[in-house]
Amino acid sequence: MTEAELYTLYKGVYLPTVLHTAENLKYYEDFTFRPDDILIATYPKSGTTWMQEIVPLIMSGGDPASVETLPNWDRVPWLEENRAHILNLEERPSPRMLTTHYSFGMMPPSFSEVKPKVIYVTRNPKDVFTSAFHYYDITTFLVKPGLQSEFLRKFLDGEVIFGSWFDHVKSWLNAEDKKNIMYISYEELIMDLKDSVARIAKFLEKSLEAEVVEKIAERCLFKNMKQNKMSNYSLVPAEFMDQAKSEFLRKGIAGDWKNQLTEAEAEHFDAVYKDQMKDVTYKFIWDY
Ligand code: A3P
Repeated sequence: MTEAELYTLYKGVYLPTVLHTAENLKYYEDFTFRPDDILIATYPKSGTTWMQEIVPLIMSGGDPASVETLPNWDRVPWLEENRAHILNLEERPSPRMLTTHYSFGMMPPSFSEVKPKVIYVTRNPKDVFTSAFHYYDITTFLVKPGLQSEFLRKFLDGEVIFGSWFDHVKSWLNAEDKKNIMYISYEELIMDLKDSVARIAKFLEKSLEAEVVEKIAERCLFKNMKQNKMSNYSLVPAEFMDQAKSEFLRKGIAGDWKNQLTEAEAEHFDAVYKDQMKDVTYKFIWDY
């Protein structure tokens, strides 16, 4: 199936239509944020699900009840997706935990008025590409990646869901008021999960004992999260996501692009990256 058949063009980017109906998009446009909302914002495949495990555990002081009983999409729901408007988020007690794949420019009016807390997770785009290449292949609501060279062209040109990685990251880096935004990378989580959990807790003004931080980090290790059926997408029927082909929690490492991209593809990627990111002063771990 093609982009024309599976996607809706919304604010200049593709969204998979089954998950983002006109009604869902309108709901988000009218959504009222609260100042103490916590919003996880990501470009897809950057560590969204991981953060949907970490944040609830921090906010519950390490109590695993919510991560053991609620699927991640209801625990920290996407505001643009089809479940948001049936979850009665208006009745949820504060602080609410929410997710979005929107770029900064797509955020609804209430967001800039209220300025809730945002955790923006980035990941080396070559690994985002690699993760997406497998993910697009197992889901029936996304256009099949086809040849790697063709998917790479689409990814670099932003002809994929939620548009260009470069535009997305730059939009959030250029957000007008950054004091309520924490920028953290997938690679930082990989390098030192305990320290990352402690830093996120600090940003969320949640004071946690060292042993609680340790317990949360342990629970959020790839091998442990993979066992959590509320977070590993095993509740999604195979007709939508065929995990027999490739698991959602696939490899969980930094640098898998080296196993995916040819030398020429990696060079081309780097050249596009250099050009697209030339005005960005923020230094990512993978830039060093
Ligand atoms: P890979 O496909 O490279 O394994 P998102 O949740 O934004 O869609 O991102 C999915 C990616 O995050 C997948 O990457 C998945 O394996 C990885 N991921 C999820 N939980 C993780 C964890 N606890 N540790 C490391 N990686 C994790």
